[in-house]
Amino acid sequence: MLLGLLISVGIVGVMIYALIRFRARPGQEGEPPQTFGITRLEIAWTATPFVLVTLLFFVSVSAMQHSSPGQIALNDGARTEPRITIIGHQWWWEIRYPSGVVTANVLHLPVGQRWVAAIKSDDVIHDFWEPQLGPKIQAVPGQTNYIWLEADRPGLYHGDCAEFCGAGHAWMLVDVVAEPMAKFKAWEQQQMTSSLGSPPGGFTASEATQGAALFGQYSCGSCHFTNIGPLLTHVSSRSILAGGAISNTPAHMEQWLLNPDAIKPGVHMPNFQLSKLQARDLTAYLESSTAPQSAPPSASHGAASHWLAWNAKSHTATLTLVAGYNSALSGFNFDGYGKGGMVISVPAGAHVNVVFTNKASLPHSAVFTAYSNLQAASGGYAPAFQGASSPNPVSGTPAGQKQQFMFVANKAGKYALVCAVPGHVQAGMWDVFMVTKSGAPSVKVGKAAMLRMPPARCDEARRP
Ligand code: CUA
Repeated sequence: MLLGLLISVGIVGVMIYALIRFRARPGQEGEPPQTFGITRLEIAWTATPFVLVTLLFFVSVSAMQHSSPGQIALNDGARTEPRITIIGHQWWWEIRYPSGVVTANVLHLPVGQRWVAAIKSDDVIHDFWEPQLGPKIQAVPGQTNYIWLEADRPGLYHGDCAEFCGAGHAWMLVDVVAEPMAKFKAWEQQQMTSSLGSPPGGFTASEATQGAALFGQYSCGSCHFTNIGPLLTHVSSRSILAGGAISNTPAHMEQWLLNPDAIKPGVHMPNFQLSKLQARDLTAYLESSTAPQSAPPSASHGAASHWLAWNAKSHTATLTLVAGYNSALSGFNFDGYGKGGMVISVPAGAHVNVVFTNKASLPHSAVFTAYSNLQAASGGYAPAFQGASSPNPVSGTPAGQKQQFMFVANKAGKYALVCAVPGHVQAGMWDVFMVTKSGAPSVKVGKAAMLRMPPARCDEARRP
């Protein structure tokens, strides 16, 4: 600004001087003397801006380096600030904390602490904009952008998606709750608790139980445990629903479930044509303080816990298996893991309800078979339990289709989860299934399937 001011004052000053000094005077006849080119002057007015612009370039680069975390420093691991991951989806924001807490649309931040936010997208270009806390930054598929997020004062800050990203763009808001560190820690702890909470006022426990059954019956988990829709665990603790189209109250939740498109036009959640009673039951369940359940993050990998929901009452594990979830092992994976990289454990006697979706471009199947079959030369993969296989295991489930099957894990031991389409186990499409004598179910993941991928991209190649 100072430089700009100097230049303006200089130019306007010379103009005013010339207007006065060289004005037409009385008695002056004809044209004034004409001057064509003064080399010294021309060199001066070319060289001066050149030097100025060069100087400004370096000043700008240095200012940019100081105002954002910078890609290179982050990849080198030179930055030590806590890191949060914010992923844009059509049309909601997924928020992942280093503690394993995953939430949506309402971001909690401790006051006075600077966080590095890694901004990504799962589908199209979005733009994360929390105007009071940081710059506007694009969420680009296949690329990670970084900004600093820092709140000086506690409060509620409103932001949104600032890039047109389809029909639901207007309802892609993001709220930031900035609170003192102690309150933030308490919130984080509460998000990690997974004992079943009580239903909201006016609802009964039996309504919530009915709702839990409906949640399974309508396979809500196949979107809401797979990041197609937001994770709903602790949804009752969020202030907004439907990307900010409505506030989160039981009455709004019921309206939303009855006709999502009326509240958020274009939303990907289908209208399940629920009855008023069903919507009420589901609301009782969803607005229970922690429902829907997933395995506690401490007992398993934070991200993997989405794949398994456990209902202790009915002793039923609902397992979401997505074939070709990302490009790990060229798509020969379950939920992104293969070559034994994922270990699913359930206690003996558990009912296992498998929701199997094939997101890859080839047919795939899911079979729970004896672990020794992995080494057997014959290569047959007979189900180890009655019904423990998707239909037509050898020809596979066609690309894009979903199938559901259920079995009872009635014998403790080590088993393999495989795709029985010929050649697919050899390509790495197998994981481990443990039936334990007792204990809690869990999903543990290693790095086996991820090793082949460059580390920064493993989250991003989710869509085949
Ligand atoms: Cu996302 Cu607009």
